Amino acid sequence: MSSSVSTRVAIVGAGPAGLILSQLLADAGIDSVIVDSRSREDIEATIRAGILEQGTVDLLRRIDPDTRVDTVGNRHDGIELRFGDEGHRIDFPALVGRSVWLYPQHEVLKDLLALRLRAGQDLRFGVSVAGVDSSDPKHPVVVATDARGESLSVTADFVVGADGSRSVVRAAVTDARSTGHFREYPYGWFGILCEAPPSSPELIYSNSEAGFALISQRSPEVQRMYFQCDPGADPAAPSDAEIWDTLQARVPGTTLIDGPIIQRDVLRFRSFVARDLRRGRVALVGDAAHTVPPTGAKGMNLAIADVVLLSDALRALLVDQNEGPIDGYEERALDRIWKAQHFSWWMTNLLHVAPDATEFDRRRQLGELRTVAESEAGRTLLAEAYTGWPLS
Ligand code: PHB
Repeated sequence: MSSSVSTRVAIVGAGPAGLILSQLLADAGIDSVIVDSRSREDIEATIRAGILEQGTVDLLRRIDPDTRVDTVGNRHDGIELRFGDEGHRIDFPALVGRSVWLYPQHEVLKDLLALRLRAGQDLRFGVSVAGVDSSDPKHPVVVATDARGESLSVTADFVVGADGSRSVVRAAVTDARSTGHFREYPYGWFGILCEAPPSSPELIYSNSEAGFALISQRSPEVQRMYFQCDPGADPAAPSDAEIWDTLQARVPGTTLIDGPIIQRDVLRFRSFVARDLRRGRVALVGDAAHTVPPTGAKGMNLAIADVVLLSDALRALLVDQNEGPIDGYEERALDRIWKAQHFSWWMTNLLHVAPDATEFDRRRQLGELRTVAESEAGRTLLAEAYTGWPLS
């Protein structure tokens, strides 16, 4: 058995980028079909990023009257940089007149899935995509197998790969021999979710002699915390008591409130930018196009910034038959992508202690932290990037 459908835009991936794109296209009168290999339950249960930039929140409020970003989410007006036994607050509204919101990605996804399904979006779960056939350059075809194991082809005027860091669509856009620019880091994050109240009203980014730790949050009852670890660390290895000792030693000056650890994982640190973001009528957005280390909390926000640009370009192409904006998509998206790459790399290097760091490296790093934290210009630079440069 096989089935085929036609649509204007085929979107591979029902993450924040794919779902927001379908909404922005619908607002422009453009139909789309979204396919995702996961089930709805899996998508809604994936624990990922937690911080939304001001521009992301403004967009969610504009496209979704029922967004819970202001009820379940919380505005954060600053973060704390902790180093050399002192805390330094970065006051976002005072510095740049903007804020961020702590609103976990899985909650964003619940809102967006409900929004799109209410609007009758054609959204198919459990669909594995094998690739994109561009032999007819004006009508690329997504070749897939649906949830029942039957072949499915989606023929479109344009295909968007919003299918994450292991993107299948990427092969239709970039040269297989050189997919892009890549960097790995000599550390990762050991992350936990625990059942406890917040240990601090705002996030703490701590550079301590023993290495980095981040005290983040998920809800009034569940907290997210990380500490720098070897990238090959086994998440099952340390006992709960060892994890709490490690975390506590890295945030001197704050008494962490502990509680049952309900999830543990190790995140690898990578920077990646695909060599090409578009070929003909196939384009990439989000993690399919780039990966950032998590330190700057840019991943989901950057994906949404891509989508804002791409939706305008698709509207010009498919409604006004104007090819200019789609021809400019890659260059415009890359401007922001490389700024976010730089910010994520910079925050990572500023806060982590490299395994081979010398005494010079340590003292220079503390000098850099002081340069940022003790100068209004330094704090403003950080606040501008952290809260997010305005969306186009
Ligand atoms: C998180 O809560 O997962 C989180 C928060 C801030 C970051 C990175 C991750 O910079």
